[in-house]
Amino acid sequence: MKICIVGAGYVGLTSASVLADLGHTVCCVDTNKEKIKSLNLGEVPIYEPGIKELISKNKDNLTFSSNVVNTISKYPVILIAVGTPSLPDGKTDLTYIHSVVDLIAETLTSYKTIITKSTVPPGTNEEIHNRLIQKGIAPELFSVVSNPEFLREGSAIFDMMNADKIVVGMKKNDKKSLPIMKSIYQGLEAPYIMTSLSGAEMIKYTSNAFLATKISFINEIARICDKYEVNIEDVVRGISTDPRISPHFLQSGLGYGGSCFPKDVRSLEHSALEKNITPLILQAIQATNHTQVDFYIDKLSSAFDNLPGKTISVLGIAFKPNTDDTRCSRAVQLIDKLSQLGCKVNTYDPKATLPFIGKANIIQYTTLEQSVTDTDCIIIATEWDEFRQLDWKKIKELMKGNVVLDARNCIDPSSIYELGLDYIGVARS
Ligand code: UDX
Repeated sequence: MKICIVGAGYVGLTSASVLADLGHTVCCVDTNKEKIKSLNLGEVPIYEPGIKELISKNKDNLTFSSNVVNTISKYPVILIAVGTPSLPDGKTDLTYIHSVVDLIAETLTSYKTIITKSTVPPGTNEEIHNRLIQKGIAPELFSVVSNPEFLREGSAIFDMMNADKIVVGMKKNDKKSLPIMKSIYQGLEAPYIMTSLSGAEMIKYTSNAFLATKISFINEIARICDKYEVNIEDVVRGISTDPRISPHFLQSGLGYGGSCFPKDVRSLEHSALEKNITPLILQAIQATNHTQVDFYIDKLSSAFDNLPGKTISVLGIAFKPNTDDTRCSRAVQLIDKLSQLGCKVNTYDPKATLPFIGKANIIQYTTLEQSVTDTDCIIIATEWDEFRQLDWKKIKELMKGNVVLDARNCIDPSSIYELGLDYIGVARS
């Protein structure tokens, strides 16, 4: 099939490389000329394991173009993977989606399947359908399909190749789209979940909100366990043998970040409020998440007579391991707050770069050794594998102080205690 993917972000590029690998002729378009230029030179603008290799492997049937209108007009299948950021009130900004739909309307002369991969609030795909009708496009000339993604950054290629489901939302009378969707994903062994356009949108939001709920829930339980000197890992082990609970997404720490969970939970809250529903659980998830950084800073404050003025090494900048993405990173928020408190912050990350520059008391180092040298304290803010296996004996010699705050509960406290360092985690009695 000939598929045009609009948007060369991590969802667009992952979809483009996997669909090309499945044998389709794919053109990925983006208005950002620089990005397209570098993709055509074989440079991939995001760090995502395996993506560079997959793009290069499929270069015969995967092209990149900044001529968006021309490509959209020529391809029968358009997969929309543009950004859907938050507006200040939490509502989803659909500007990019609308401009793609308008371009499709301007150039549409023969039948097209329009697939929305971007995360959009309930009702958006119905609106897309109505927008095309209002622009005078005959309904038999197009189908709108809602086909959300469930890709984790850092394992996006694996997640798409090994999808646990393919969600397809369609209009009731749509007879054409299912066979087209099945041809697009031919080669992937995943069950199809068929639903309405808004049903697919709600599946995506419910999935992300549920996972965010698990994280905030376990973080709240960890705070309680901390006070009662109970080990949170014992509790998680104890509950997760029950298949109704499962062991996943129960890792306590600084909280959730990234480009999806914070934005999507807020957007779902907004969709509920628009219909006069007060989503108490969604609001509680966010409230807990927002206070995680302060909770850890309070813990740190109690380890020092006077925290301001101390030199702190924060290991990890990315919102999670195996990505260079710092959007809504809890580590970045922690670095920012520590600097505002008057600490000198040294930081290091294997892939990510601080999203702000020019703050005199924050320095990003290119090596871990430089970052920990002469510091009063080390904080593990992102659980990169590299940080799980540190040579603490060597690090102790480089440090000035002796405090280690494990804000992801990811290192073995006994290896720290043995060296005479102070370990602070949460509920790790
Ligand atoms: C998420 C969803 O997993 C994916 O299905 C969706 O399509 C996009 O959003 P992603 O944002 O890449 O993917 O990250 P994910 O691995 O889900 O982690 C999100 C955040 O939760 C990270 O900040 C991570 O550190 C945090 N997290 C995750 C925890 O704090 N504890 C956990 O147990 C799991």
